[in-house]
Amino acid sequence: MSAQVVTIAQQKGGAGKTSLAIHLSVAWSLMGKSVALVDIDPQGSVHTWDMMRNEYFGEEMPQSPDARAITGWRTASEVDRLRRDFDMVVIDSPPHAETEAKIAIRAADIVIIPCQPSPIDLWATKPIIDLASMEDTPTVFVLNRVPARARITDQILRKAKQLDTILAENIIGNRVAFAESLMQGLGVSEMAPSSLAAQEIEDLAKEISKYIAEHQNQHAIAA
Ligand SMILES: Nc1ncnc2c1ncn2[C@@H]1O[C@H](COP(=O)(O)OP(=O)(O)O)[C@@H](O)[C@H]1O
Ligand SMILES: [Mg+2]
Repeated sequence: MSAQVVTIAQQKGGAGKTSLAIHLSVAWSLMGKSVALVDIDPQGSVHTWDMMRNEYFGEEMPQSPDARAITGWRTASEVDRLRRDFDMVVIDSPPHAETEAKIAIRAADIVIIPCQPSPIDLWATKPIIDLASMEDTPTVFVLNRVPARARITDQILRKAKQLDTILAENIIGNRVAFAESLMQGLGVSEMAPSSLAAQEIEDLAKEISKYIAEHQNQHAIAA
């Protein structure tokens, strides 16, 4: 088995990296995939979420992302090891484009870039796209925390089309269920499976899986 490695990167803090990493990991787990959820952000939010999760489920733990923190020089070799043991490795990365983020991008088969509909988030995506391009790794730009109706969303999407990245068809709304579920150590697909929020995450998870499969096919044809 060789896992698909999905790195969530964006140098802007607060864009939704950790939220997407957790919710997507849970969604893929629920689809039956074994998922390692790797936190290389020293903030350690994934670990705190995992502790809440252990408290919530206790002995009754369902199929879950295997959360772990990795730091520094070990990252690349640890991710290589995880590739052998899981279907997917999801990496939550720190809010910058320095060494640790670079390692996470280098290890990835695909890089997901969350971006809130704001020019400040948009401007911060370029360094990550450039880093991934140098590694010949596809990037997927995901609009996150999108308010119900706002002209800025279309304006940001128009600008994003000019960037060298895939634009995710599925966008993620500004929904309180994303934070509420994390609070309990759950993914939104577990806390509120029939909510719009859960639907958005599932659709995005499937869309990302589709891009990974396409990219792998292209490589197989090229080889
Ligand atoms: N789609 C969303 N809807 C509502 N709140 C969100 C959404 N995505 C993220 N948030 C909130 O935004 C804040 C920053 O998200 P976080 O995932 O920690 O970003 P990052 O890891 O990029 O710093 C958190 O308080 C989180 O709960
Ligand atoms: Mg984070």
